[in-house]
Amino acid sequence: MCGIVGYVGTQAATEILLAGLEKLEYRGYDSAGIAAIWEGEVDCVRAKGKLYNLRSKLESVQTPSQIGIGHTRWATHGKPEEHNAHPHMDTAMRVAVVQNGIIENYRDLRDELKAQGVVFRSETDTEVIPHLIAQFIKEEIALGNGDSELVFFDAIRKAVNHLEGAFAIAVISADYPDELVVVRQQAPLVIGFGQGEFFCASDTPAIISHTRAVLPLDNGEMARLTPLGVEIYDFTGRRLKKQPRMLNLNPTMVEKQGFKHFMLKEIYEQPGVVRASLDAYFNPDWKADDTQGTPINLGINPELYGDLEQIQIVACGTSWHASLVGKYLLEQLVGIPTQVQYASEFRYAPAPMTSNTLLIGVTQSGETADTLAALAMEKERRQGKEAKYQARLLGITNRPESSLGHLVPNIINTLAGIEIGVAATKTFTAQLMAFYALALDLAYLKKTIAPIELEKIIAGLRQIPKDIEETLESQEKLTEHLAHDFADTQDFIFLGRGINFPIALEGALKLKEISYIHAEGYPAGEMKHGPIALLDAKVPVVAIAMPGNVYEKVISNAQEAKARDSRLIGVTPVKDGEAGEVFNDLIPVMEVSELLSPLLTVVPMQLLAYHIAARRGLDVDQPRNLAKSVTVE
Ligand code: M6R
Repeated sequence: MCGIVGYVGTQAATEILLAGLEKLEYRGYDSAGIAAIWEGEVDCVRAKGKLYNLRSKLESVQTPSQIGIGHTRWATHGKPEEHNAHPHMDTAMRVAVVQNGIIENYRDLRDELKAQGVVFRSETDTEVIPHLIAQFIKEEIALGNGDSELVFFDAIRKAVNHLEGAFAIAVISADYPDELVVVRQQAPLVIGFGQGEFFCASDTPAIISHTRAVLPLDNGEMARLTPLGVEIYDFTGRRLKKQPRMLNLNPTMVEKQGFKHFMLKEIYEQPGVVRASLDAYFNPDWKADDTQGTPINLGINPELYGDLEQIQIVACGTSWHASLVGKYLLEQLVGIPTQVQYASEFRYAPAPMTSNTLLIGVTQSGETADTLAALAMEKERRQGKEAKYQARLLGITNRPESSLGHLVPNIINTLAGIEIGVAATKTFTAQLMAFYALALDLAYLKKTIAPIELEKIIAGLRQIPKDIEETLESQEKLTEHLAHDFADTQDFIFLGRGINFPIALEGALKLKEISYIHAEGYPAGEMKHGPIALLDAKVPVVAIAMPGNVYEKVISNAQEAKARDSRLIGVTPVKDGEAGEVFNDLIPVMEVSELLSPLLTVVPMQLLAYHIAARRGLDVDQPRNLAKSVTVE
C-alpha cells in the first residue's frame, strides 16, 4: 500500500514526481504529497484526497527544483487528512521522508522522541523517521563526521537500524541538496537509471516512461542517488556491486488506450493473456502420439513433482479464488489432495506438511504481505531439512521481479502484463492459465490422464481466446443494459458449483469491491442450508450453469431461488428447455467443456460488476478503501 517516488537529475522534479504518482495511485489514493528542495529549503506540498487535489495545489507553487520525493497514501496509522499525508518532516523542517509500509515499533520510538522534547505533527508511524534522522545527523556532526561525504547517508542508515517492520523509504534534506537516499526492507523499491538522472519508485510503471534500466533493491539494502550516479549499500554500510537490468515493458501498457477505465481495457486484454500463456507454457508441436517431446514446459525444477503427495496453496482475494480453481484441477486431473488457505490465516495456524508437500503461493503483485509472510514462515520451517523439501516452494505471480520472486526457488510467471485497475481481472485469467498448465503437466508426468485426453484439453484451451472474444462481443451491450436495472440493488447472490463455484465467489467479490453492493457467492447446493432465507424479489441471483457434471443440479437450485421470487440471471450457453424457462435473463457464453469453462464464465462476472459500478458513477479503477497491492498485514 502507498506509492513512493523520487527523482534527482537535471529536469524539474515536480512534474516527473506527479506523473509517477499518477501511475502509482492504484497503490493508495486517500492523500498525496511532494517535497522538493529549492533555494536551501524543503518545499513540501500535501493534499487530502485524490492526486488531482495535489496537482491543483501545486499549480501556483511549483519550483524548478531538480530533486524531490512524492507519496500517494493508503492510510494505516492516522486518518486520511492533510496533516497525516506524506512527506513528513523533522522539527527544523530540513529532512523530508516518504514511506510505504509500517514501522511496527513506532510507538516506542515516538515515546522516546517525545521524552526528548520532539513535538509530533501527525498520527502516523512514519513521522518518527525524519526526527530520528535529524538526531543522527546532529550526532554525526558532533562526532566530527560533518565533512564526510556520507554524513547524510550514515545518519539515515543509523536511523533505519532502529526501525522494525516492513518499509520502503525515500529521504531528502535541504542540507544535502544533491542526495536522495532510499531504503528497502520488505516493501518494494526499484531504482531507475537515466542519463545523469535517477529515479526511485514503489513500482516500475512510475518510471517506465523515463528509463527501462532498473534495479529492484533487495531487503536490507539502501541506495544513495546523486546526479553523479547510484551507490548501493547494506544496512551495515558495506558497499554492494549491483547492475541494473533492462525491463521488457512498454510505456503504452500503462495507458488506457481509448478505454474509459483500466478495468474495461484489462477485461478486453484477456484473449491476449490466454494466447500469451498458451505460447509460453504449451508446446505447439506436441501430439498424443509424441513419445519424445513434452506437452508443457513451465521451466520449473522437476524435483518439485517427484513423489508429491499433497499440495497446499496460500493466497488472498482474487488469487485465492484462482487457487480454488487450481485445487479442482489438481485434485480432479492429478488426484493430489490440495488445500487452499487464506494466507492471513495460514501464517498463524500453519497446516502440517511433510517433505512430500508442495507449497504454492499465488499473488499477482508478488507483494501481498500476508502471502509473503506465510511463505517466509514455511521456508523457515523447512530450513535444515531435506533439500527436496526446501525446494518444494512455488510462486505463481505476474511480477517475477517482486519480493515473491526473491523468496521462493520456483516461479511460474503469469503473463497478464501490468494490471492497473484495482479489481483484478486479466491477472485472474492468467493465474487460471498457470493452474491449467501446472495440473496438466503433473497429470501428464504422473500419467493420470491419457495423452489423447490431454491433447483434447489442450485443443480446447487453444480455442479459448476466440471464445472469450466472442463472449466479449456478445455481452458488452447486454451486461451494460442489465446494469441499468441493478444500479440501485442492495444485495446480490452468485451461485456456481464444482469448478464454477470459485467463479461465483469471484463474481461477488468484483461486484462488492467496485460497486459497493453487498454480494455473496455460494456453492449452489448450499443455499438451502441457510442463505436461501435472504432471497426475495429484491435480491437478484446470478447462477452459472455450464453443461456438464453439475448442470442439472444448478438448474434445480436456480428453481429453488425462483420460487422465492428472486430475479434469476443465468450465465449459460443453453437457451431453451428448463434453462430458458427458469432464468429471467440470460447472459449467453460459448459452449465449452465444463473443465475449461471458468475461463469464459468469469468474463460476464467482470462485465456485470464493471457496468453496474460505472452506471452508479463510481471510480471503477480506484474503489474506496482499497489498494492494488496490500503490503501491510
Ligand atoms: O497481489 P495479490 O494477488 O496477492 O492480491 C491479492 C488480493 O489483494 C487481490 O486479489 C484483491 O482481492 C483484488 N482487489 C481483487 O480484485
